[in-house]
Amino acid sequence: MNSLTNKQILLGVTGGIAAYKSADLVRRLQDAGASVRVVMTTAAQEFITPLTMQALSGNPVHTALLDPAAEAGMGHIQLARWADVVLIAPASANFIARLAQGQGDDLLTTICLATAAPIAVAPAMNQGMWLNASTQANLRILLERKVQIFGPADGGQACGDVGPGRMLEPLQLIDAVAGMFQSGLLAGKKVVITAGPTREALDPVRYISNHSSGKMGYALAQAAMEAGAKTILISGPTQLAAPERIECISVTTAEEMLQASLAHVPGCDIFIAAAAVADYRAAQIAPQKIKKTLDDSLTLMLIKNPDIVATIAALKNKPYTVGFAAESENLLDYAQQKLQRKNLDLMIANNIGSEGIGFNSDDNAVTIIDAQQSQELTKRSKQQLARDLIVIMAKNLMDNQ
Ligand code: C5P
Repeated sequence: MNSLTNKQILLGVTGGIAAYKSADLVRRLQDAGASVRVVMTTAAQEFITPLTMQALSGNPVHTALLDPAAEAGMGHIQLARWADVVLIAPASANFIARLAQGQGDDLLTTICLATAAPIAVAPAMNQGMWLNASTQANLRILLERKVQIFGPADGGQACGDVGPGRMLEPLQLIDAVAGMFQSGLLAGKKVVITAGPTREALDPVRYISNHSSGKMGYALAQAAMEAGAKTILISGPTQLAAPERIECISVTTAEEMLQASLAHVPGCDIFIAAAAVADYRAAQIAPQKIKKTLDDSLTLMLIKNPDIVATIAALKNKPYTVGFAAESENLLDYAQQKLQRKNLDLMIANNIGSEGIGFNSDDNAVTIIDAQQSQELTKRSKQQLARDLIVIMAKNLMDNQ
């Protein structure tokens, strides 16, 4: 799951040996779903070429403040506006000093002055330079101005010294940047989400399941985590990687999903049932593989699975409980009935009949229904939809309290 999907990161590279790591950082930011534009200082170009960064980012690299061609395209003001975050990695001692003084004598410092986006710096320098009182004083100024400081790490340095001043590794920086997007809307809250299909064995080799990919539930877990919630994802079998910074519990059957849900519901503020739970399971799992017979038909006895979301919603101290209704007809009617029958606070209705949305696809469009009203959320990526849904749930939760 990408944690920086749709984010626009302006990466500033200043002069330091750690600039070689910035090439990897560009790739990894893109892997995490971000668009990246690179601005390099003159000193940075002594360590790594703009061509490398251009090839990796897929965008022209910006190096000069007074470049008529660049200003006609994306000049410093447009770059400053484009960025969701300005990340300077590596940030040299000299750059940190110039940023602290509010200088605007090159492209990168000018962008930092002009931007309304949050700024983060990943210092990289010799340990003596890091510990120097001037550098420390400059860092205090930056912190006062809400500039985030990522790192540095301690360890061996290119110059042979050992101590603080190593730039954080690209993956640590990506985690830190993702943290900047946390809205804090669900800070201090606990969110439990079920996701994916369940799998009900018929015999040692066969099972009943469905096509749920788990993408919507995983996107909701990511969005809840980004909003600051302690997030627990209870997932049936999916192809998706367990998201970072989220407690993931793997289950197979509906019964296991119910037990995991009950175990984690104490203290839970929002319970979101995004799993496509098998409605029925075999009355008895055959101990050996069921053999083909001469008969043209085979009868399986199925029994009903527990309704997980209804069980949670029936608890005395029930959390704000959200269900999904995936229907191919009479969507709103069925969703409304389910909302009441299962005693839910919010129902997210999903028309699985429409092309390119819902089950197994990357986009979704839904209608959300609660006791008072319904609201349509038009087609958008599951990540975006998840963020929008989390905002709505957080607001409803606040209103209910
Ligand atoms: O009744 P139906 O399966 O259509 O309801 C869908 C909603 O109920 C979803 O939120 C789903 O996760 C939840 N559900 C459940 N346990 C079941 C069946 C459905 O939690 N056994």
